[in-house]
Amino acid sequence: MRALLRTLQAALALFGATAAHADPLAESLGEGVVRWWADAASRDAAPVSVMLAEPRAGRPLERGGAIVPRFLLQGGGRIVRLDVPRGTTLHGTGEVGGPLVRNGRQVTCWNTDAYAYGATSASLYQSHPWVLGVRPDGTAFGVLADTPERLTIDLTRGIEFRAQGAPFPVIVIDEATPLEVLATLADLTGHMPLPPRWALGFQQCRYSYAPAAEVERIAREFRARALPCDVLWMDIDYMDRRKPFTFDPRGFANPAALADTLRSRGFRSVWILDPGIKQEPGDLVYEQGNAGGHWVKMADGTPYTGRVWPGTCVFPDFTRRATREWWGALTARFAERAGADGIWNDMNEPAVFDVEGKTMPITAKHEADAELGGTGFHARYHNLYGQQMARATFEGLRAARPEKRPFVLSRANALGGQRYAAAWTGDNRANDEHLHMTLAMALNLGLSGQPFSGPDIGGYAGPCTGDDYLRWLGLGALLPFARAHTETGNIRKEPWSFGPQVEALARRALETRYRLLPYLYTCFEEASRTGAPIARPAFFADLARTELRNVEHEFLIGADVAARLAWAEPMPDSPSLVADRGRWPRVTVVPGGESELLPTLHVRAGAIVPLGPVLQYSDEKPLDEVELLVAPDAEGHAEGVLYEDAGDGYGYQRGEYRRWTFTAVTGADKQVRVSVQSVGTWAPPAGRTWRVTLAGAPKGATGEVTP
Ligand code: NOJ
Repeated sequence: MRALLRTLQAALALFGATAAHADPLAESLGEGVVRWWADAASRDAAPVSVMLAEPRAGRPLERGGAIVPRFLLQGGGRIVRLDVPRGTTLHGTGEVGGPLVRNGRQVTCWNTDAYAYGATSASLYQSHPWVLGVRPDGTAFGVLADTPERLTIDLTRGIEFRAQGAPFPVIVIDEATPLEVLATLADLTGHMPLPPRWALGFQQCRYSYAPAAEVERIAREFRARALPCDVLWMDIDYMDRRKPFTFDPRGFANPAALADTLRSRGFRSVWILDPGIKQEPGDLVYEQGNAGGHWVKMADGTPYTGRVWPGTCVFPDFTRRATREWWGALTARFAERAGADGIWNDMNEPAVFDVEGKTMPITAKHEADAELGGTGFHARYHNLYGQQMARATFEGLRAARPEKRPFVLSRANALGGQRYAAAWTGDNRANDEHLHMTLAMALNLGLSGQPFSGPDIGGYAGPCTGDDYLRWLGLGALLPFARAHTETGNIRKEPWSFGPQVEALARRALETRYRLLPYLYTCFEEASRTGAPIARPAFFADLARTELRNVEHEFLIGADVAARLAWAEPMPDSPSLVADRGRWPRVTVVPGGESELLPTLHVRAGAIVPLGPVLQYSDEKPLDEVELLVAPDAEGHAEGVLYEDAGDGYGYQRGEYRRWTFTAVTGADKQVRVSVQSVGTWAPPAGRTWRVTLAGAPKGATGEVTP
């Protein structure tokens, strides 16, 4: 009977008609997690999963829970449909332009060099075949299409995945809250590693700061103007004729000296490396790659070639372990020579100039490891190319510097790649559309398993006004990854480039980030452990208030701090989380010049938020005084957490950290007393002091800490 049904399906599909699989197969992957297959034959024919961090054996299930996908075949294509309860908002879908709520939208997972993209561009640089659904009552579910292949996510009617290639399952996670869904997603696809603390500082980039003397000048300006900054970035002009792993013999003749100068001023540096290696006989990397058989090949076995920055290039096949190890070692040696603290992987969709589709043909061949699916076409491995490059980079740095946490930023990536690299949202435009969708982009990445992201602050393509720059910076300085960047030939976009008034407000935006650093690091540690996003939609604070689902002018940092962007409010009196000042008292952490262009900050009543001093860079000095911003709730209670460790290295995995928990109660005398407890062996600076600042407390209240 089943065989007959399958023959019928196949015949129908051939004529372009739609045929449904009558008996999808459910397997349990754990409490609340069901993997669905079209049928047993599809399961047996499917390639290995690369979206999951580790292979997962399923237990057979009779009934698969409330969400049952329908598998269809149509004209050779595979379709999976899921109904969505009325009033459910859909989110995630990875790196996407446009709004936070994705209902009615369509995107295609196909990593694309999307210079100056827009709100409706079909494909950007990264692929996350994942949808998060939040029902009106606040319960949530997530659906993962477990395939790296080109796949369309169509949310115009419920959830529909459409793909052409091999059979694939969908994994449904059904939980009580979005945070629980995201925790399970991280358990399945991998956790973001805790980054070095300096990577949370503000970062300044341009295509390009060159020669080295110009980099030094930028460093001097930041310090002379007391504008906090941790990292300067080297774009492709540091290279000799744009060849990765080389230095321009004139502009960057002595990178070690540059690194020393930067370090002496408290700067780290991150250097760009692209995958395209110039096809140049005699070139060391090219010859090594030839000898090692490291290039992606065409059907006839010759290396695929395409034009990128250095000219005609060959491309490493990062799906091979041997190639990743080679590249990882090259990267680590390069980082040593450059004095690089981190590595920026760019153009790794991979981008190819002057060809249709802007990438290599889907018929190119990868000699992938068996664990990724074995030898196969670029059609399967395209979306994994950037992820595997980031993996090679991360693992190479990790092996060479076992006591340092690697920092890698990658333009292309795929779900699971949060294990290796942070994300920035690529070549945005310095216009209103981008300014407005920047927040939703970072939020949706956080709702797709990637907590560490941010935009090119100031806009990559095109000029901007000083006011616009402040809007970008005010917002960007509160997002997990805070880097300003702009393209070659563009106007200058350093914080001082728009005159003294803008500079003063820019300083305020940056100082705000550094004041929040202890809290931000606590949020990062939580994200690395639990998969919880760092930047969260405002509606996370009140899942039952469905009118907050669309709010894009307010957002949360962790659970306890909210930011409001007055300039982004769609209409006066739009739905708001923080308008309820009793529950979200406003706080000022950096006194001085107010501006509608900068966000306002709010603390959740009932929370205690740890703050540090204004710093010029993250490890300028130890945190010898902690300020506890205490916002008592209606009963006078508040609670909070501070996580600390050495800021780099892996001692924290051996217990060398300190997790402080704070509890505040208010006495009849209006005295707010904060008690402090801690676990872990990391020693705080000797003589550390604690101080309380109250937010939204009754008039006349005072606070004290009992350490
Ligand atoms: C493209 C990247 O998206 C951009 O950030 C970078 O500046 C240029 N490549 C040059 O490397």
